[in-house]
Amino acid sequence: MNGTALGSTATVTATARAGAEAERARLDAQRVERPRADMPRAATVSAPAGSASWQSRRGQIEAYFDRTAADTWARLTSGAPVGRIRRTVRAGRDAMRAQLLAWLPMDLAGRRVLDAGCGTGMLAIEAARRGAEVVAVDLAPTLVELGRDRMPTDVREAIEWRAGDFLDPALGTFDHVVAMDSLIHYRLQDVLPALAGLAERTRGSVVFTFAPSNWLLATMHAVGQWFPQGHRSPSIEPVAPEKLRAVLASDPRFAGFAVGRTERVVNGFYTSQAQELVRL
Ligand SMILES: C[S@@+](CC[C@H](N)C(=O)[O-])C[C@H]1O[C@@H](n2cnc3c(N)ncnc32)[C@H](O)[C@@H]1O
Repeated sequence: MNGTALGSTATVTATARAGAEAERARLDAQRVERPRADMPRAATVSAPAGSASWQSRRGQIEAYFDRTAADTWARLTSGAPVGRIRRTVRAGRDAMRAQLLAWLPMDLAGRRVLDAGCGTGMLAIEAARRGAEVVAVDLAPTLVELGRDRMPTDVREAIEWRAGDFLDPALGTFDHVVAMDSLIHYRLQDVLPALAGLAERTRGSVVFTFAPSNWLLATMHAVGQWFPQGHRSPSIEPVAPEKLRAVLASDPRFAGFAVGRTERVVNGFYTSQAQELVRL
């Protein structure tokens, strides 16, 4: 038997198999994992009124994340390969998630945490792994179902998934609220009452992100706000960090809170700034 010939046949077969597997993985990664029929849908919470501009923007955000960009978002928040630009966004988002979680107590046992605008729940899962009881809520039922479907078994009991508005008081009260990149599409005049509503229901801290205005044009806008042409997201509303901190410090609705740490994360095409509000 010719070892070389056998070797080359085996190589061709292995190469073909690897190619087929890669293609299958590519197709799998592209597919939005729809909820399994055997799982009940996540409970929905209602949408509190808010201003007309909040309501109108919320409608656009829901349509965008629930339908237009659901596939893109599913892929970005998975381990599936993505292009160069989105790799920088994914790494930036990983860094931001780590930053926000680092501001919470390391041991979250017995603490209730709200992942406000959870998307597919990456932060919720990490908080649950540190012992928190998490409520993960998002306007986009498709992402909530995907998060619930992907949820590892070790946190199954610790996360309650909800579809709806994170401002709904029916969600209850919390020790910590985290809103990662879920307020960036609202105007400051709507973000402040939203933060005040969240703060009212929070015993410990509210940590959230915003788009710092001085970086916006150079980064997010340059890539169609993280996604390519044709997938344009509702516009991002930039805020000057100094202005935001000054407004928070002087607004009586936050009198019971200190305007805490702030940290900007810049990684390639991802730029976002974290802000902490800590109950006094
Ligand atoms: C940029 S994504 C970030 C998702 C997640 N926090 C993450 O970092 O992976 C913003 C999410 O906020 C959600 N969102 C925006 N406004 C919301 C609201 N009022 N109530 C609940 N979810 C909201 C959107 O539906 C979207 O899934």
